[in-house]
Amino acid sequence: MDAVFLIWPLLESGAAAEVIEEIAATSPRVVYLSSTAIDDEASRQSDPIVQVHVEMELMLHNAGLKPIVLRSDTLASNARGWAAQLRIGDEVSGPDVAMTPVVDPRDVADAAVSALLRPNDDLDEEPHLLTGPEPLSRADQVARLGTVINRPLRFRSVSADLARRRMLADGRPEPLVEALISAAEHRPASNCVTDHIERLTGRPARTFTEWVTDHAVEFH
Ligand SMILES: NC(=O)c1ccc[n+]([C@@H]2O[C@H](COP(=O)([O-])OP(=O)(O)OC[C@H]3O[C@@H](n4cnc5c(N)ncnc54)[C@H](OP(=O)(O)O)[C@@H]3O)[C@@H](O)[C@H]2O)c1
Repeated sequence: MDAVFLIWPLLESGAAAEVIEEIAATSPRVVYLSSTAIDDEASRQSDPIVQVHVEMELMLHNAGLKPIVLRSDTLASNARGWAAQLRIGDEVSGPDVAMTPVVDPRDVADAAVSALLRPNDDLDEEPHLLTGPEPLSRADQVARLGTVINRPLRFRSVSADLARRRMLADGRPEPLVEALISAAEHRPASNCVTDHIERLTGRPARTFTEWVTDHAVEFH
């Protein structure tokens, strides 16, 4: 192995120890996909998903792997979760989530490719903060989607209790549901917009509207 792009989309980090040990045996370049929601000053993170990312970053450092850490903001592609609701009406309802500069997953992928291929000494050891160009609330995202698909879409916030019952009824595993509710309730808003995507890829981050325009067919 020369290089590893590591994603850990699980709700606990314990099982990663064996994987990291295996990776460390050949000391490849490691690019790890983490989260901008990490608070470096906090002893405990806002929710289990962010907590796992902190633990993963630490385990990679402790294994001597000098990981290139890409902390991603909220992915625009999370909007795919609204498609089923939009097949039956113009309303998206769900737990509200604090506003952040939503990022296009294609930019995250391009940044990861760049991090995997650039010379080592060309990259910062600090985490790269991958953000979109402007902070957006759920309501902002739904409104932009409506403009693109030419429908009067609106967002309605529902209580954590109702959101929990609906996600469980949809068959999502309970630990995941609790992690998502916890994220909606506790993750703070962020207006931290960076140029780190441009620094890694050579071009500015795409807007949410660009992602929606290129995926409009999924929402009709
Ligand atoms: N979504 C965001 O807004 C966001 C923001 C910042 C960081 N991140 C981080 O980015 C990563 C991906 O997020 P996501 O929202 O795209 O997650 P996701 O929708 O849950 O997708 C996870 C992907 O990993 C695959 N996967 C899950 N368990 C696996 C396993 N044991 N072995 C191999 N593949 C496995 C899944 O495959 P299947 O489809 O086959 O199940 C799926 O393709 C996570 O670590 C997340 O914390 C996400």
